[in-house]
Amino acid sequence: MSALWTSADAQAATLGHASAAFGASGISIDTRTLVRGDLFVALKDARDGHDFVPAAFAAGASAAMVSRMLESNGPLLTVANTLRGLEDLARAARVRSNAKIVAVTGSAGKTTTKEILRIALGALGSTHCSAASFNNHWGVPLSLASMPAEARYAVLEIGMNHFGEIRALVGMVRPQVALVTTIAPAHLAFFGSCEAIADAKSEIFEGLEAGGAALIPADSPYGERLAQRARQIHAGRVLRFGSGPDCDARLSSYDAIDAGARIGAEVFGTPVEFVLGAPGRHIAVNALAALLAVAVLEGDVLNAAAALKSFGPLKGRGARFSAGGIEVIDESYNANPASMAAALALLGEAKGRRIAVLGDMLEMGADAASHHASLAAPIEAARADLVFLCGPNMRALWDKLPASRRGGHALSAGELIPLLMRELRDGDVVLVKGSNGMKLSAAIDALKVRG
Ligand SMILES: Nc1ncnc2c1ncn2[C@@H]1O[C@H](COP(=O)(O)OP(=O)(O)O)[C@@H](O)[C@H]1O
Ligand SMILES: [Mg+2]
Repeated sequence: MSALWTSADAQAATLGHASAAFGASGISIDTRTLVRGDLFVALKDARDGHDFVPAAFAAGASAAMVSRMLESNGPLLTVANTLRGLEDLARAARVRSNAKIVAVTGSAGKTTTKEILRIALGALGSTHCSAASFNNHWGVPLSLASMPAEARYAVLEIGMNHFGEIRALVGMVRPQVALVTTIAPAHLAFFGSCEAIADAKSEIFEGLEAGGAALIPADSPYGERLAQRARQIHAGRVLRFGSGPDCDARLSSYDAIDAGARIGAEVFGTPVEFVLGAPGRHIAVNALAALLAVAVLEGDVLNAAAALKSFGPLKGRGARFSAGGIEVIDESYNANPASMAAALALLGEAKGRRIAVLGDMLEMGADAASHHASLAAPIEAARADLVFLCGPNMRALWDKLPASRRGGHALSAGELIPLLMRELRDGDVVLVKGSNGMKLSAAIDALKVRG
C-alpha cells in the first residue's frame, strides 16, 4: 500500500523541511496510541508534544513534525507551527481526495451518527471516519489529514463550544453533505440561548461544496431556524429528516425488538425497512439522517440500510450489559436535556423494575435548576420506578419527585453508589446517565463488580 504521507508530499503541503525521507502510514498526536509507521505531530496543548518525540520514535514513529530543533534519531519535518502544519496536511488531504464527504455536528448524537454512517457508507465503499470523538481544533484536522487518498467516502465529526469554531473547521472539510443531528441546551452557560446554539451549529452549512446538501432535524424546535440559515448561505439543497409528513427522510414506524429496533422509513418517497442493532427512537432518527446522506450521495440506500443491523450501541452511549441478574444501560458518557430525555425514553421501553441513576448536566448556565427539574416529565413518561440522583443541580429534580420515586440523592457519585447498591434486586433495569464530569462511570464499575 502506498504511504498516507511521503516526506515529499508532506513538505509540499506544509512548506516544511524534512531532515530525511520518510513514508508515514498514519498520523498521531499521542504516543500512548501511536501506531508503528505514524507521523507524530508534536502539538503544544496541556503538555508540549516536543517532549514526547523520543517516545514517539521508540514506539515506531516514521517521522515527527516539530517546530523547533531537537536531538532525534528519526526523520524530522520542521514547520513554523505544528498545529498549522497539521491543518496544512488536512487541507492537502482534502484537495487530493475524490471522496464524498459528510460533516456531522449537533448538540447530541454526533459520534453515534458518525458510527452509523461508517457502517452505512462502509457497505458501499471504503469509508474514512473521524476516530473516537475527535471533533475540535486539532481533532478535525487530524481526522482529515488521516484520510487515505483513495477513500470513496469520509465522515467527519465537528464540535464546538464557541462561535466561529465550526466555520473554521468545516472550511477545511468542504463536505458535500452537512448534517445537524439536533439542537439542545448544551454549553448554555456560554451561549445563553438555544437560538444562539443553533446559529453556531449552522456555520457547518457555510463549508458546503457548491450544490451541497444541508440536512435538518425537522423534529427540533430549531429546525426551521437551521433551514433558514442554510437557505441564506445558498446551500444547494435543504433537506429534512424526522417524523413529519413533509420530511425527505421520514420515520414511519418504530418497533423495539430484542437488542434493537425494526424501522420503517421513507427516503425521498421510497419505502425502506430495516433492523437497527440498537434501540431508541433517537438512534433511529440518527439512522434516518444517515440514510438521507447516503441518498444524497447517490449511494444504494437499501444496501446501506440492510447493513445497520450490525450497528451496536456505543460504550457510555446506550451500551448494555447484564450484571448478576440486573440489566444496565450505560449512558455515563455525557448528558444534556435532549440526551437525558432520549435515554429515559429507552428506560421506558425496558421490562423489569425501571431504575434511573442520573447525575448533574453541567454547563447549563443560569437556568440550570429549571432544566434539571424539567426531567420530572420524561421520568414520569418512562414510568421510572426509582430515581437516584447525584450532584448539586439534581436537588431541583429531587424536590419535584413524588416520594414513591425517590431512591436517593447525594452530592457525588461516590456517595450515591452505596445507596443504589443497597436497593438493587434481580430483574432490575438500571439506566446510568450524567455529564462526564459527574464520574458516573464509577457507578458502572460498581455494577460490573456486583455482577
Ligand atoms: N439524536 C439524538 N438526540 C438526543 N440524544 C441523542 C441523539 N443521538 C444520540 N443521543 C445520546 O446523546 C449522548 C451522546 O451521544 P454521542 O453520539 O456521543 O453525541 P456527541 O458525539 O454529539 O457528543 C448519548 O447518550 C446518546 O445516546
Ligand atoms: Mg462525540
